[in-house]
Amino acid sequence: MNAFEESRVNTTVIDEIVSRHRGKPGELLTVMEEIQEASEFKFLDDSSMEYLSSSVKVPLSQIYGVATFYSFFNLKPQGKHTIIVCRGTACHTKGSKILLDDLSILPGCKEAFDSGESSFTTEDKQITVKTVACFGQCALAPVVAVDGVIYSNVTSEQIKKLLENLQEDNKDENLRLS
Ligand code: FES
Repeated sequence: MNAFEESRVNTTVIDEIVSRHRGKPGELLTVMEEIQEASEFKFLDDSSMEYLSSSVKVPLSQIYGVATFYSFFNLKPQGKHTIIVCRGTACHTKGSKILLDDLSILPGCKEAFDSGESSFTTEDKQITVKTVACFGQCALAPVVAVDGVIYSNVTSEQIKKLLENLQEDNKDENLRLS
């Protein structure tokens, strides 16, 4: 059994989440969000989805449909820190590809994006790099989100420094981007 299998969300936890939201509006979405949040690597693993499907009597295909429709659901293990680079037109024009290239020095990252992936996680599960189509803040391009905080007009120097700090897990320094 690997680290991810060991870190599956306990069925008792899933039962508790399901019973707390049973019959409420938006039940499935909320339950899935909480299961993801309860996961050590912040993702929805197959066995948890199968268990949820039988527990709430919703076809597994529908659960996966929801998980793939909403970008905040992860179907792969996530890193401790997440960097999301906007690849929309405005951000692209202002150099977001350069920012992504700066992050692509992480081993395996370039290959993942070149092969069409929109997400990459380092082997040590320290950093996840993702792209997004638009944050809706085009006037502030290029835009990057780090651990849920949005930063505008991000430069190549800043992203390199940020990466350095995240790799060293220096939380105090890494958020001085804006
Ligand atoms: S294109 Fe990047 S925020 Fe809209």
